[in-house]
Amino acid sequence: MTEQFVCNPIGRVSSPYKEKGDAPAQGREKNLVSRIIIDPGFAGGLEGLTVGQQIFVLCWFDRSARDGIKVHPRGKMENPLTGVFNTRSPARPNPVSLTLVTIQEITDNILTVCGLDALDNTPVIDIKPYSGKIDEPMQA
Ligand SMILES: C[S@@+](CC[C@H](N)C(=O)[O-])C[C@H]1O[C@@H](n2cnc3c(N)ncnc32)[C@H](O)[C@@H]1O
Repeated sequence: MTEQFVCNPIGRVSSPYKEKGDAPAQGREKNLVSRIIIDPGFAGGLEGLTVGQQIFVLCWFDRSARDGIKVHPRGKMENPLTGVFNTRSPARPNPVSLTLVTIQEITDNILTVCGLDALDNTPVIDIKPYSGKIDEPMQA
């Protein structure tokens, strides 16, 4: 048996995207509003976040295939098969998604954000602040 880790969701997405065909390949392409409902036990972790701030949201894409190691980017057969780790495909061995979104509102344990591409009820596994110092590409 391969090594396994326990990963507990910290919350769930409430999204206008109900089916895979509804969501854009990247959330910023439609830039619709979603809500992230944080479990009350983790809500203290939101302290310090502010409206207008950019955050990375990491989700577990629970409706993804996990058996492929090469994919056609954007699901288009005309795009040549590519190693999955060189793509942003939702279908991957560990279906973790990474999306940069902007906070629009914070109410108790609910973050309202725009730019998320996760389907409704997708588990959220982590949130991290975007930092120009840390996340901008380094000079060669
Ligand atoms: C191409 S992925 C990009 C995700 C993220 N922005 C990234 O780059 O890691 C976005 C697509 O994943 C699909 N998706 C969203 N939520 C999902 C879920 N819970 N399970 C499976 N697929 C999902 C949607 O069809 C959406 O178009």
